[in-house]
Amino acid sequence: MNEMTTIDRTQRAYSPAAQAFLARKPALFINNEWVSSSHDKVIEVEDPTSGKIVGHVVDASDRDVDRAVAAARAAFDDGRWSGLPPMVRDRTMNRLADLLEANADLFAELEAIDNGKAKGMAGAVDVPGAISQLRFMAGWASKVAGETTAPYTMPAGAVFSYTLKEPVGVCAQIVPWNFPLLMAALKIAPALAAGCTIVLKPAEQTSITALKLADLVAEAGFPAGVLNVITGNGHTAGDRMVKHPDVDKIAFTGSTEIGKLINRNATETLKHVTLELGGKSPVVVMPDVDVAATAAGVSGAIWFNAGQVCVAGSRLYAHRSVFDQVLEGMAQNAPFWAPRASLDPEAHMGAIISKEQHDKVMGYIEAGKRDGASVALGGDAPSNGGGYFVNPTILVDVNPQMSVVREEIFGPVVVAQRFDDLDEVAREANNTCYGLGAGVWTKDATTMLKLAGKIKAGTVWGNCHAVIDAALPFGGYKESGIGHEQGRLGIEAYLETKTVIIQM
Ligand code: NAI
Ligand code: MG
Repeated sequence: MNEMTTIDRTQRAYSPAAQAFLARKPALFINNEWVSSSHDKVIEVEDPTSGKIVGHVVDASDRDVDRAVAAARAAFDDGRWSGLPPMVRDRTMNRLADLLEANADLFAELEAIDNGKAKGMAGAVDVPGAISQLRFMAGWASKVAGETTAPYTMPAGAVFSYTLKEPVGVCAQIVPWNFPLLMAALKIAPALAAGCTIVLKPAEQTSITALKLADLVAEAGFPAGVLNVITGNGHTAGDRMVKHPDVDKIAFTGSTEIGKLINRNATETLKHVTLELGGKSPVVVMPDVDVAATAAGVSGAIWFNAGQVCVAGSRLYAHRSVFDQVLEGMAQNAPFWAPRASLDPEAHMGAIISKEQHDKVMGYIEAGKRDGASVALGGDAPSNGGGYFVNPTILVDVNPQMSVVREEIFGPVVVAQRFDDLDEVAREANNTCYGLGAGVWTKDATTMLKLAGKIKAGTVWGNCHAVIDAALPFGGYKESGIGHEQGRLGIEAYLETKTVIIQM
């Protein structure tokens, strides 16, 4: 790892456009206008690469939340969005996607500054991913439809019965900091296509790209009040959104702990709730694989985005016969993932989001060591540059009781274990309260299908990891969530079904 400690992690200069955006006066986007908060509380914008404060955003008050919800409520109730021809909703969403595309480089830079992720990755994954969500869901605006269904107990022609699909209403959408723009797009795209109106709140650590997105909303042609963006803390602004009587649906991505709290808080007013929560995704490597290609794949599965990925392949199960070679291959891939300044053009992995999260990740590594785990790779935190870096880490000599094996670390830390047979590894893979993703690496189709069937997870990847596509539903089993995003299920999550029965 010697070459990793000599990397210059000083943050690179920001572009004039990024500087100008960061220098803006903190404001909220309500009714297609930038408005001031009712109080003067702000949240600091920190660049995790340098640890420096580079801007401020509003810490929304209860009154600010109420104002945004009222705007969304009015925009929903008078049908200024849901009443438009689906073709117009489709076109407006595609115009927003066009504007994102035209500003792609600035979005990637702002995401890299605000989150600490490599700008190259933000440009290759986050921004095109967000565009793709909008374009795919735009098409659903004209494809959602009810059906005419004959009743069971009545003769033909006695009644005319049919179902209608209607938007659920005002949606409070709360997103995390790991993929700020992409998560925001994942949330707003199906809601907009369905005809809902929105109050979107980015995470307090990463508000910048959601605000930049808000900049484009009016230009894209959305009527006022359809898409409102407020910034603020979770336990205040987020909590107010969740409990607000004028909100019909909550969509949340974040920690399982807060997901459970939100689900409880939404019960009082029986809001619709979809939750995309944490994971501890297993990655199974069978003995027949091409070791070099697989090692590269399982390295990306944990080290991409510094492991701050809900589906991070954080539990590696490699067959005893290839275990040592897979780990050796991962060590060879580690320099590619060495943490660098987020605006360094050579960066593939950047900084951890915050000091708090950095310390949490390092705390897990220490706890693992205390419990008897050994560090096979990394385990340390390069400190030059002033930011929150953690080196790609592999822990071995672990057992299922250890916190590093059971809990979501949300950092570039994988626990690696050996196995001997298929039933054993399937059992171990499922030995978790989570069920978000899983990876299986093998050339043998039968083994692939058997494991895909046995593993309890919302998505199983074969010979790849964390592949996400707007057309393919994404959701969690067990404590990883409720409901789905993307695909037909993704749009259904924003629709009510009304049954109409008319006696003839
Ligand atoms: P979090 O789950 O607290 O925050 C996610 C979002 O929820 C943010 O927008 C936040 O403002 C909001 N929020 C927080 N409390 C709320 C409340 N009471 N009511 C309404 N909204 C609320 O995640 P946090 O605190 O940033 O990270 C804690 C841990 O969660 C991390 O260390 C990581 O392990 C895990 N995490 C997992 C994610 C995943 O996608 N699986 C994403 C983010 C964090
Ligand atoms: Mg929190």
